[in-house]
Amino acid sequence: MSEKPTILVTGGAGYIGSHAVLALKQAGYDVVVLDNLSYGHREIVEEILKVELIIGDTGDRALLDQLFASRAIAAVMHFAALIQVGESVKEPGKYYQNNVASTLTLLEAMQAASINKFVFSSTCATYGVPQFIPITEDHPQNPINPYGTTKWMVERMLLDFDKAHDFRSVYFRYFNAAGADPSGLLGEDHTPETHIIPLVLFAALGKRDSVSIFGTDYDTPDGTCVRDYIHVLDLAQAHVLGLEYLLKGGETAVFNLGNGNGFSVKEVIETAREVTGKPITAIEHPRREGDSPFLVGSSDRARKVLGWNPQYADLKQIIAHAWNWHQRRHG
Ligand SMILES: NC(=O)c1ccc[n+]([C@@H]2O[C@H](COP(=O)([O-])OP(=O)(O)OC[C@H]3O[C@@H](n4cnc5c(N)ncnc54)[C@H](O)[C@@H]3O)[C@@H](O)[C@H]2O)c1
Repeated sequence: MSEKPTILVTGGAGYIGSHAVLALKQAGYDVVVLDNLSYGHREIVEEILKVELIIGDTGDRALLDQLFASRAIAAVMHFAALIQVGESVKEPGKYYQNNVASTLTLLEAMQAASINKFVFSSTCATYGVPQFIPITEDHPQNPINPYGTTKWMVERMLLDFDKAHDFRSVYFRYFNAAGADPSGLLGEDHTPETHIIPLVLFAALGKRDSVSIFGTDYDTPDGTCVRDYIHVLDLAQAHVLGLEYLLKGGETAVFNLGNGNGFSVKEVIETAREVTGKPITAIEHPRREGDSPFLVGSSDRARKVLGWNPQYADLKQIIAHAWNWHQRRHG
């Protein structure tokens, strides 16, 4: 038994959650993972991370009551969610049920068990179309799809829980999570995959014929959309710092987590060609509805308040780490 408290990580069998579990373990915490394995990977938790996995749903109140009654959980890190923007537009109810209603069940179970520290994965998608760049935490929130709205709704619930129940949370609005643990043992494995870096690497592995570029006539340096890619290890580190901030009595707070540098779709593909040495075919298409030309965040607040010091801002390194994982996992 370590001296540090036990943390429940929901969605710990998924991409970002699994990296956070590793960071928590390295920082000396005991970890219990709750994941329904709708998208997560059992073997990552049991064989690589070697922490307890409870297979179950965040919307299962009886399971949560039993879990909180049987373990001394000091705080919850909540990664569990459905994450596909396109699917959320076609099936909004599924997203409101899983991301909002089940999260409410989790919050109520925590409150009943007197657990009042919560670290939440929110997203830059809560901002909607940027009105200024870089986006700071006080940028207006106007999500343009149900996925972003579900995250915004949870943020609002957290503020109300804070006022009513002394419930303290840190919510992180991530930009585009990317990269992998350099060991090659953990990484991004979504089915279906919708994120650009894994799609480009699938093309490098010959698992896709090409990658698509949607829009080459934006008002950006090379005409393609610019995004902020944040290394998953830097995200994981921020979560440990956010947790420690709460454990020390910190007030509810929101932080952007981004790289601060924007990279265009063409830059991502060109860098992936360099890293992999493969001739990745890119096919240009017209613009896609709903894509913002430029999405880059300011994470100054996380640096100042949490002392967050991201280590992997370099796109080449982000892609090299992802490539290492993809070759092991899918090569
Ligand atoms: N990947 C990104 O770039 C990104 C950006 C912004 C925010 N986020 C947020 O970060 C979190 C993690 O994203 P990810 O990319 O690791 O996704 P992921 O799909 O790899 O991980 C999510 C995990 O949650 C589990 N899960 C989903 N609903 C559940 C439920 N009701 N009960 C129990 N388990 C459940 C899934 O099985 C999966 O293992 C999500 O909340 C997502 O919205 C991700």
